[in-house]
Amino acid sequence: MATEIPLYREPVETLPTDPIDRVIRYHVQTKHHFNRYARSLGHLDWANQPDPFRRFEGAPLIRLPLLKSGDEPASPSYDAIYVRGAVPANPVTLPSLSRFFELALALSAWKRGGDMQWALRSNPSSGNLHPTEGYLVLPQMDRLDLNAGLYHYAPKEHGLELRAEFAAEQMARLLAPFPPESFLIGLTSIHWRESWKYGERAFRYCNHDVGHAIGTARVAAATLGWNMALLDGVAQDRVAALLGTDRMEDFIHAEREHPDCLTVVWPSGDVKRETLDGKCDAEPAIPLFLDSEMVQELAAATWRGNANRLSRDNPVPWEIIDDVAAASWKPMAEARSVALPRLLTNDVSRVTFHESLSAGQLIRQRRSAVSFDGKTSITSATFFQMLGRIMPVAELPQLERPMPWDILPWEPAIHLLLFVHRVDGLTPGLYVLVRDREKLPLLQQSMNEEFVWTPVPGCPEILPFYWLLEGDAKKVAAQVSCHQDIAGDSAFSLGMIAEFEGRLREGGAWWYPRLFWEAGLLGQVLYLEAEAAGVRGTGIGCFFDDPVHEIVGIKGRSFQSLYHFTIGGPVEDGRLMTLSAYHHLNR
Ligand SMILES: Cc1cc2nc3c(=O)[nH]c(=O)nc-3n(C[C@H](O)[C@H](O)[C@H](O)COP(=O)(O)O)c2cc1C
Repeated sequence: MATEIPLYREPVETLPTDPIDRVIRYHVQTKHHFNRYARSLGHLDWANQPDPFRRFEGAPLIRLPLLKSGDEPASPSYDAIYVRGAVPANPVTLPSLSRFFELALALSAWKRGGDMQWALRSNPSSGNLHPTEGYLVLPQMDRLDLNAGLYHYAPKEHGLELRAEFAAEQMARLLAPFPPESFLIGLTSIHWRESWKYGERAFRYCNHDVGHAIGTARVAAATLGWNMALLDGVAQDRVAALLGTDRMEDFIHAEREHPDCLTVVWPSGDVKRETLDGKCDAEPAIPLFLDSEMVQELAAATWRGNANRLSRDNPVPWEIIDDVAAASWKPMAEARSVALPRLLTNDVSRVTFHESLSAGQLIRQRRSAVSFDGKTSITSATFFQMLGRIMPVAELPQLERPMPWDILPWEPAIHLLLFVHRVDGLTPGLYVLVRDREKLPLLQQSMNEEFVWTPVPGCPEILPFYWLLEGDAKKVAAQVSCHQDIAGDSAFSLGMIAEFEGRLREGGAWWYPRLFWEAGLLGQVLYLEAEAAGVRGTGIGCFFDDPVHEIVGIKGRSFQSLYHFTIGGPVEDGRLMTLSAYHHLNR
């Protein structure tokens, strides 16, 4: 008898166990391809749309004053926020905290079209879904009639919900290593808000949005003369403990929050401080970590409030999102500090500010363009000015880098591939901006070896900006951006090319979200620069990953494009009505 030919067996995917391989698997699986988008539900389940506003029922709400644009603290000029020492430090008061949250995370307008109405915020968000939640960890302060504790920021009410009251003395000990009047800002993400629409790719978008929120917060702090640094040395379970996201009992029927990061904010000014034993700190430094045991002690406080339920039905379980969130979790603390710079007040007198452009006004008016006119061009001077703002000046110590790059405690990982369409004085085509000059050879080796990296005539020497290919890139830019015309009808668009697998293998899987934070922060700078130049920007999260790489011959995973952006002359949607941010509050 003839032996039976074995039945076909479906190959079983063996899942990687190493966290770095797991985040790479997530990244590869959530790429968009010309013939196949990353997995999502494929339709919008409107009946189950998540509420964009989290509240903690039972937590007392402290309303922040609604300030008019001219009220104190008034906004400095837009240029001044980029000059160290040019904006005098405001004391931490209820009005200054209100201004901070207004410019960082508040509503900026409502849009109405037909019978739909939706809120926009100071921080942009993929699909306007707003997965990012903001928290304030506050010590007892002389000028502030607020208890020490953890507060959740409620943007619709422009208020602070007291989640936990911390003992003033414990908070003082936690923040003792930081300059006077320091407080913490925390960010979390509700992944479900994004995955409801975007499915598996949502973890990327949530982290872009964290990066944008880091940017809006850093810039808001700068308008008040405050400094800010990411506390990247805190282990993630301590971030969770301090922000209360690990409290199952407060989220029983509610969608969970993922703890992303903590930052410290301190009013600048005299940085001379006393150490705990009363001596003068000779070389003042900012720690990028918190005392882990003290965080545990604080978390034993009495907590208030239960998170509200955002959707009718339970979230669609996208297992790969939970897996990448777990794999990219930062398990250990790092006891790192960064030196505080002396104030460079001499620089201030040499700068002439464009007094007419108020930083606050630009932040409030920032919007994403929904389409571009296909004709507006910008001058090369404006273009180089924008590129200058996104240079982190990697060779400087962290806190001496230009705002907002002083907030990130790492060497820049992202470079730009630019599709130049309408920049006066520049030949249309493909260009590269190397944001860390040392990385030039690495980038050159990773791209098509036939490229001649030509320096661009008229470009300021401080910009490592190279011309790769001459030609009309309008069609290809739109094509690789999920066929979105906004990438071709603008003055220029770009892909953010991140140092990828090397960073992950050397640094750890938790670098994955951080790469997106850097990309989001970069996008935020570009949004504001576009407004300042009288044009407009739009973030582009939807693009075909590998086709972008193929344009310049990037093979393998040493570099990956993580986010796109476009800037040009906007076309308004005349059908929409704009309403003021807090018209609904009548106060
Ligand atoms: C990470 C990210 C990705 C985005 N991707 C796109 C995109 O692919 N296409 C698009 O038209 N807009 C995109 N946007 C713009 C958002 O739709 C916009 O920020 C949101 O609707 C809020 O509007 P606002 O920016 O005017 O406040 C993106 C924004 C962000 C922050």
